[in-house]
Order: sequence, then C-alpha cells, then structure tokens
Amino acid sequence: MTGVVNHLEQAWLAGVFAPVADELDATDLAVTGALPPGLRGAYVRTGPNPRFEPIGRYHIFDGDGMLHAVTFADGRASYRNRWIRSAGLAAEERAGRALYGGMFEQVYPDAGEVGDAGSMKNTGNTHIVRHAGQLYALMEAAKPTRIGADLSTEGEWDFGGRLRSSCTAHPKIDPETGEMLFFGYLPRLTYHVVDATGDLMRSVPIETEHPTMMHDFVTTRGHVVFLDSPAVMDFASFFDGGPLASWRPELGTRVGVMPRDGVSADVRWFDMDNTWIAHFLNGYEDDGGIVVEGCAMDEFNFGLAADGRAAAAEGVLSRIRIDLATGAVTREALDDRVGDFPRINDDRTGLPNRYGYVAWYAGDSTENGFDALVKYDLHTGASEEFVFPGCTVGEFAFAPDPAGTGEDDGWLVGFVHSGDATASDLCVFDAHRVAAGPIARVHMPRRVPFGFHGNWFAAD
Ligand SMILES: [Fe+2]
Repeated sequence: MTGVVNHLEQAWLAGVFAPVADELDATDLAVTGALPPGLRGAYVRTGPNPRFEPIGRYHIFDGDGMLHAVTFADGRASYRNRWIRSAGLAAEERAGRALYGGMFEQVYPDAGEVGDAGSMKNTGNTHIVRHAGQLYALMEAAKPTRIGADLSTEGEWDFGGRLRSSCTAHPKIDPETGEMLFFGYLPRLTYHVVDATGDLMRSVPIETEHPTMMHDFVTTRGHVVFLDSPAVMDFASFFDGGPLASWRPELGTRVGVMPRDGVSADVRWFDMDNTWIAHFLNGYEDDGGIVVEGCAMDEFNFGLAADGRAAAAEGVLSRIRIDLATGAVTREALDDRVGDFPRINDDRTGLPNRYGYVAWYAGDSTENGFDALVKYDLHTGASEEFVFPGCTVGEFAFAPDPAGTGEDDGWLVGFVHSGDATASDLCVFDAHRVAAGPIARVHMPRRVPFGFHGNWFAAD
C-alpha cells in the first residue's frame, strides 16, 4: 500500500482516459457525412470507467466496465452507455465508495461488505462479443458476464456450472461451424469449445511449464495455437505488492499447436525467439503449416511501472510461420511502424485472409496513443492509412456490407477522440478506401473515454 495519492494526476484517470460520471440515452445524433444505408445494427465497445474514486494508484485494467453503444437504424444513429453492474460494483454502490483495489493496490474488501461478490471484481471491461444471440462482456481473469440487448447486466455466466476457468477476452467464433472457441488461464490453462447453440461442450486442461499470462490465441480450421511467452505470473509477489507477472526471457518462448479435437498430450510445442503478442490478427492453415499474424513485441509491457504512466503498446504487425513437418518457426515483421488493435473481417476467422486493419502511431509522440488507422493488403504488402493529427484513435471493427461478397466489402467503425479530450466521434470508413478518411462521423452527445475492444453487431 502506498496510500491515497492525487488521483487527478494519475495518467489513466485524465485526458482521453478520464471516466464519465453518468449514463445517457441520446437519439438522432448529429452526423457529418453520409451514413451508408446498409449499415444497420450496433457498434458496442467496452472499456474501463471507474464508478468511484479508486483506492490508491489506478491501473487502466482496474476500472468498472462501461458499455458504449451506437445504433444505426433508418439512416439515424443513437447512443447509449451503461456500466456493467458486476456483483462487486453493486457492493460498492451499496457502500457508496470503492471497496476493491487493483493491479497496483492489492486491497481486498471484507467479505461482510461484499457478500458473495468475492474478493475480485469481474469488471467485463475488456471486450464484448455476441454468440448464439447472447452478448458477453469479458475480462480475462473472470467468467463471462451476460449482457442484455438494452445493455443491462444479467450476471456472470458459467455455462450451467460447466466453466471452471476464467475466459479470455478474445474468444474466436468459427464462421463455418458457429462454434465459440476460447481459453482461460486461471487457475490453469484450459481450452473450451461452445457449440453453435451456446452450450459448453468440451473443456481441456493444457499443461504448460510455467503459469504464463496469455491475452489472446489463434484458431484455424484444424488447430488451436497458444503462444507461451515468458510472461510468468507470480501470485506470491503480487499479494506482497509486486507485479502480477514479470518478463523472464531466460525461460524462452514456445508456440503450441493442438488439433481442435485434441487434448494436452496432443499439443506440439515449438521453440521460437522471444516475443509477446497481446493481439493476433488471424491465423490459418497454409501448405503443411500454420500462419499466425499479430502485433508482436519483443517483450511484454502492461505499463506496470511504478509511476503509473500509460505505457505505449509497441507491437509491429508480424507473421509467424510454423512448419508442422520440420518444426521450424520463423517470425518476420510486416511493417516497421508500431501499432496494435489488429482486426479483420471476422467472417475470415481461422481462414486465409487478405486484409488487416490496425491502429498505429503516425505522429512523433505516443503520449496520446494511436492517431491513425492503417489497412494492410497482406497479399501485395501494400498499405494505406488515414491520420487524425493530434487525436486518439481506438480500435476499429469491421462491419460487413450485407450486400457484399468480398472480404473488404463493408465499413470500419471505431471511436476517435479529440486531442483536447472534450469530444469523441464514431467514425465510419468505407473499408475499400481507408486513405480517403471517414465517410461519416457520428458526433457523440458527450465524450466517450478511450477504451479497449468492441464489435459490430448487425441487425437481425
Ligand atoms: Fe485485448
């Protein structure tokens, strides 16, 4: 414990990160440009938005999840934001103050204050996905939280008692089978398969040499791929006030490939050079091997430095090839520019894809985070970008054009925050012409804090 500090000076509570204090509903939002008639549905994004003043030093991973939805119907746009009302947040609302600490401040509430909410808050602040008609808000240390179509919180979901591990914030939905594949690493690495109707069918423990932190993984038509980087968790250190995970390069990095119907003994582990990949773009089977693409860093950096400054993500879009015959693994950078939040047309998940979309740093400073969106043509190596000078760019999700058939027939939707952190637009790009800039900017009725991940949910 370091005691209470001046929270207004904490980087993750200021500027584009600063939380908003209430929940709004707004209709008929002002739009600059023209909304495409085919864009029907909702873009929903989650992110941290602490409801109460944090206890001590605040880490961006700590904040209560807040959902921001921009819904398009009949050529108009509307906005709604709602906190994810976890059991932990409900206990804090009863108390009228924060009860839980966070990544920097290991403060745990009295059981009498929080009841069955437990010693850790399931914020759901990292991602939101829809599977079998159900929305799930996700954070990797806990179970999914079911969310209603009106953004109401329905509660934690353990698939009828079958889910015994945590759930990654980056599950994969197979566009061919409709299955949702995911893993959890708490208390141990476990792979799960949910069928197309939403029932958890398989849970497979995977043995690893060390308790490593994994944020994302890759699925292909036939395999699942785990990157076992030396980001090793140390709970004894954490409960003593130290970092939850530390980078231990001497332990090396392995990539594990398992048949989708396999078990731990079927995993083939291949050594590769040390890397940390927070987010994968995609992966697919290719000529006797597997191709994995993602934003690779030489080591992991969660901004866990004691000064609490937001650390810049320093990933470079990279391609890893795993030769299943020889065991050779190669990694090559596809760019020399730094970025993250890689996304594709999710209809290509696990299948060969041509296009990728990444947020990156065009400006000289990384102080305000990403300021540009880039589209990669992975077949030709070409790329095109659009820069929002002085602004902060969030993740862009791909919204397919219902009338289209091509991989990039559709739109890219994501939040862009003004440099003075007073306003946010939901920007819509024609995915064919990223360099032309947004075709429409939906002006939010009030700034939206920078957050993590979101998805496009097409109207039925
Ligand atoms: Fe993520």
